[in-house]
Amino acid sequence: MKNPFLPHKMEILDVIPETEIDSTFVLALDKPVKPGQFLELSLPGVGEAPISVSDFDEGRLFVTIRKVGRLTDAIFTLGPGDFLFARGPYGNGFDYQDFWGSDLKVIAGGTGLAPVKKVIKNFIDSDKVSSLQVLLGFKTPEDILYREEVRAWVDSGVATLTVDKAGSDWGGNTGLITGYLKGLDLSRLDKCKFIVVGPPVMIKFVTLELLLLKVPEDNIWVSLERKMSCGLGKCGHCKIDETYVCLEGPVFRFQRARRLLD
Ligand SMILES: Cc1cc2nc3c(=O)[nH]c(=O)nc-3n(C[C@H](O)[C@H](O)[C@H](O)COP(=O)(O)OP(=O)(O)OC[C@H]3O[C@@H](n4cnc5c(N)ncnc54)[C@H](O)[C@@H]3O)c2cc1C
Ligand code: FES
Repeated sequence: MKNPFLPHKMEILDVIPETEIDSTFVLALDKPVKPGQFLELSLPGVGEAPISVSDFDEGRLFVTIRKVGRLTDAIFTLGPGDFLFARGPYGNGFDYQDFWGSDLKVIAGGTGLAPVKKVIKNFIDSDKVSSLQVLLGFKTPEDILYREEVRAWVDSGVATLTVDKAGSDWGGNTGLITGYLKGLDLSRLDKCKFIVVGPPVMIKFVTLELLLLKVPEDNIWVSLERKMSCGLGKCGHCKIDETYVCLEGPVFRFQRARRLLD
């Protein structure tokens, strides 16, 4: 039987700088993936970490990596033609059918945009949803990911972008993402479905506001970035009560996730 812990090699095709500490690595895609799933990326003798799939197309898989530690520092020394090692994809990911026919609202904070970028791209010009509204929050203008795509989404009226704080040269919105929830069109509340991704504190306050607006818990999806190690339901690192987030998540309906949020 094949050892599930054995990673396979993935060639780096390109590296796209996003911010001072985030870059998107374009890898040669060799397996089917779903948006919201993650890979266990590794380098021999350095380490291994879960990293979300941010996009994919014919033969290419995109991961946006923040340089924060041992493994990611080492990955940032690599370039096109070099190889990463990967296990997976793991996790349930987002099912597009869950959102068909809805007024879809995607609310993403910071690097939380990565696991939903493909979902946004899928629905942006699609008649599978009745409407799409995207709310994006970053700490500062310098932290904005996928600048060209985000600008196009904002210019087309699909997305509202805000930053927590900015210098006087920033002409856009400022303030926390929660302050912009009132701008969402909730006139057909029963048709509205919400995806909320970002840091735990942002998920907590955004979902709290949505519940106050009488959004049913069942119509909110979140993605939980728990501490993970094996990704295979073996090590228990991600286990909360009886739930293995790596197997049953990281995407959960809020009804389930609220019991899992710390
Ligand atoms: C489902 C999932 C999806 C994810 N998707 C992404 C993604 O798409 N992109 C992404 O960039 N990240 C993602 N992450 C997070 C990523 O897996 C972590 O940032 C990972 O730890 C990076 O590995 P590393 O070896 O580079 O960092 P590590 O060396 O493990 O460091 C991680 C953090 O711990 C701190 N740290 C390390 N050692 C110590 C110490 N001794 N004392 C105190 N603090 C310490 C570091 O400063 C850093 O902030 C995801 C995580 C999960 C669970
Ligand atoms: S990460 Fe090991 S059990 Fe989930």
